[in-house]
Amino acid sequence: FKNFLTDKFQRNHTYLRISLTEKCNLRCTYCMPAAGVELTSNEKLLTSEEIIRLAKLFVSQGVNKIRLTGGEPTVRKDIIELVGELGRLKPLGLETIAITSNGIALKRKLPQLVENGLNLLNISLDTLDPFKFELITRRKGLERVFETIDYAISLGLSPLKINCVVIRGVNDEEFLDFVELTRDKPLDIRFIEYMPFDGNKWNQNKMVPYQELLKMLSNKYPDVKKLMDDSHDTSKAYRVPGFTGKIGFITSMSDHFCGTCNRLRVTADGNLKVCLFGNTEVSLRDLLRNKVPEEQILKIIGMAVRNKKKQHAGMFELAATKNRPMILIDDKLTAG
Ligand code: GTP
Ligand code: 5AD
Ligand code: SF4
Repeated sequence: FKNFLTDKFQRNHTYLRISLTEKCNLRCTYCMPAAGVELTSNEKLLTSEEIIRLAKLFVSQGVNKIRLTGGEPTVRKDIIELVGELGRLKPLGLETIAITSNGIALKRKLPQLVENGLNLLNISLDTLDPFKFELITRRKGLERVFETIDYAISLGLSPLKINCVVIRGVNDEEFLDFVELTRDKPLDIRFIEYMPFDGNKWNQNKMVPYQELLKMLSNKYPDVKKLMDDSHDTSKAYRVPGFTGKIGFITSMSDHFCGTCNRLRVTADGNLKVCLFGNTEVSLRDLLRNKVPEEQILKIIGMAVRNKKKQHAGMFELAATKNRPMILIDDKLTAG
């Protein structure tokens, strides 16, 4: 069997998300309980060598985009070197090295990351108000995130995507202020529907369906235009004519995009997750440490990929199921 990364619904997986750490320098309420999450002990986490071995293996099978996530990926001390190692995979078919970060500790690392091959950056920012920032993240730091964003723009990282999780009663009233930011700044601001994960107190009322935001948008800007989306985009893109940047909606809950999903993930403790919302996990770490030959590892990956479900179970089912918090999977998301 050759196409290890193609599933039985003919989805070909060319995008790998690797979590570098479960730790984070913020405590976002939609991501984790105030006490934080129980962390996996260090020896169970992937070493940098293991991460690079896995990256190589996936690139050899057609992965052309790798995104580093967390927790907060910049918390990992060797992120600059890791990106450098990934940069060496570019001649082998890796085209895009991306990072999703909260922007708190990223700024001074950016020049070297870019030099080492980083070419796509997404920054999480849920509010423009310092008090709300503290309410949402349980930490201070909004100014630093703003500085990181402006610095990333000045380094030419484009499109610079901003991820904004919209929560009713918390930041939904800032929606149009975020849209206004795209008037002069070359940002791609994506509004994300709040997703249920263990311990994040999700309920349906807190989730603002994108149709509601779209109405506010077209009321204020009647000439707003729908843009073309790439087939694997998580977001539906729009632009207000004359504005520099654009906005998008990530509609994981009200209109999922599982049909065109091209992503796989590896958790910081080395588990392959074929779906963000799925409890099937295969320990690639154990396979590596038990010196299982690569051909055999590929077969096991292939099996997991082929068994990937057609789509996630729907928001109510998800809210009622156990799902690792996103911080244990990927940046702020904790659900499987
Ligand atoms: P691009 O590569 O720039 O398109 O970014 P991305 O959207 O793949 O990644 P990012 O880390 O910026 O994640 C933004 C949001 O996309 C997350 O908050 C999720 O809501 C959503 N998302 C990311 N990966 C998945 C996934 O595998 N499944 C689902 N349902 N949503 C996802
Ligand atoms: N719902 C929606 N998005 C979330 N993220 C983290 N937790 C959730 C959630 N419960 C977002 C983060 C980050 C991205 C990777 O996932 O804000 O931008
Ligand atoms: Fe950290 Fe992201 Fe979770 Fe916030 S959402 S606590 S920034 S991992």
